Amino acid sequence: MEYIGVDFPIEVIREGITNVAIPKLEFFKRGLWDYAPAQAPVFYNPRMRTCRDIAVLALQSYQKLVGRDLNVSEPLAGCGVRGIRFAREVEGIRSVYINDISERAYQLAKYNVLLNNLEDKVFVSNDDANLFLSRHAATKNRFDFIDIDPFGSPAPYLDSAIRALRDGGLLALTATDMAPLCGVYPRVALRKYGGVSLRTEYCHEIAVRLLAGCLASVAARHNIGIKVLFSHSTRHYIRLYTLVEYGAKKADEALKNMGYILHCFKCFHREIHQDIMLAGHNSKCPECGSIMRATGPLWLGGIVDENFCRILEENLERENFSHIGHEARKIISMVRDEINAPITYYVIDKICDKIGIPTPPLREVILRLSSANYRALRTHFHAKGVKTDAPASTVIEIIRGIAERQF
Ligand SMILES: C[S@@+](CC[C@H](N)C(=O)[O-])C[C@H]1O[C@@H](n2cnc3c(N)ncnc32)[C@H](O)[C@@H]1O
Ligand SMILES: [Zn+2]
Repeated sequence: MEYIGVDFPIEVIREGITNVAIPKLEFFKRGLWDYAPAQAPVFYNPRMRTCRDIAVLALQSYQKLVGRDLNVSEPLAGCGVRGIRFAREVEGIRSVYINDISERAYQLAKYNVLLNNLEDKVFVSNDDANLFLSRHAATKNRFDFIDIDPFGSPAPYLDSAIRALRDGGLLALTATDMAPLCGVYPRVALRKYGGVSLRTEYCHEIAVRLLAGCLASVAARHNIGIKVLFSHSTRHYIRLYTLVEYGAKKADEALKNMGYILHCFKCFHREIHQDIMLAGHNSKCPECGSIMRATGPLWLGGIVDENFCRILEENLERENFSHIGHEARKIISMVRDEINAPITYYVIDKICDKIGIPTPPLREVILRLSSANYRALRTHFHAKGVKTDAPASTVIEIIRGIAERQF
C-alpha cells in the first residue's frame, strides 16, 4: 500500500477485528502523567473501545431488527475507527460515510479505509459535520444510522442529524459534557439541552434524560417522534440509541414523555411530574417541608427497550462477536436488568453519610426492600445505587435497620 498522506508518526493497532492506524501515542506524551490522545493530531481514545464495542453490537441488532442493508454515517469520525469497525464487523452494511472537519483526521481515515480494503464500502469526507449531514437531508440520500460522537455536547448536531435520518432510522449520540448535564452548570444545560440539570446523586440518569428530552423536542419540530432503544452512562460519557419515527402523531406521543423531577435535598424524597404548573415551582416536600428543586424538562419515558436488549444479547452470544470486550458485555447485561425500572435511584453511601451510619452491603438493602414487597434492583449508573419504588423514608428506615443490627 503506497498512500499514507499523514505528516506525523503512526502505529497500527487492532481493535475488535479491525486494524487501524492511529497517531503513535507515545510520541505525543509530554510527561509521565500526560494523557496522549488529547495531544495527538488526530483523535483516537483507547478508553472509548467499550463505547465502540456497544455501538457495533447495537448497529448489528438494529440491522437484524429492520432486516435490510443499511447506509450508515459517522459525521465526527477522528481516525475513522468506529465507522471502519461498522463496515468490517457488522453484517448487512451497504455503505459507511465517515467525515471529519480536520484535514489530518481525513487523511488518516482515508489511509485506514485502504488498510482494511474497504474502498468500495467506506467513503471519507472532510467537512463540517452539519454541512455533511445537510448534504444528506434529501429523501433519497438519508441514512439508516448516524453515530454522533463529538468532543463535549452533541446538541449542535441534533437538528441536521434528524433531517439526515430516514423514517425508522437509528441515531446514536455521545455526550461528554458531564458538568453541565450533571448539575454543576445548570444554566449551560438549559442553554444546550433546553432543560435545567440538578446536582443529585442520580445526576447521570438525569443527564441521559436531558439528552433524550432535548432530542425529542428537536425532532418534534420536524414532526418526528423518538423512541429510546438503549442508553448507558459509562465513566465520563453517556450514550443514547434512539429510533426516529416520522409523523406529527409520533412527535406528539413522544412529547407526552416530557416532564420534571422534583427533588428534596434534605430527606431524599423525589417526585415525577409531567406538568410543572401542577407540581408548582417552589413545592414544599410533603415529607419534611423543605423546598424541593426541579430538574427538566426532560425525558420521563423508557430509556431501555426490552426487545432491543433481547436482540443485543442474542448477538453477543454469536461467534462473530466473541471479540466484544468484557466491559461492554457487563454494561449490556446490567442495563438489560433495568428495563421498566423506577425513575431515579438512591445511593446508599450518600444516605449513610447524611444520617451518620456505616454503609451496609447493597445486596442486603435490596433484599430487605424486596421482602417488604417493593421493587428493588441494582443500577449500572452507580455501584452503590438502588432503583426502587419504595419511598425515601422507607429506604432510609431499612438502611438504618440493617446498620443497627450489624454494627
Ligand atoms: C471525539 S472525536 C471522534 C472520535 C471517534 N468518533 C471515535 O470513535 O474514535 C471528535 C472529532 O470531531 C471532529 N470535529 C470537531 N468539530 C467538528 C465539526 N464541526 N465537524 C466535523 N468534525 C468535527 C474532531 O476533529 C474530532 O476528530
Ligand atoms: Zn424532604
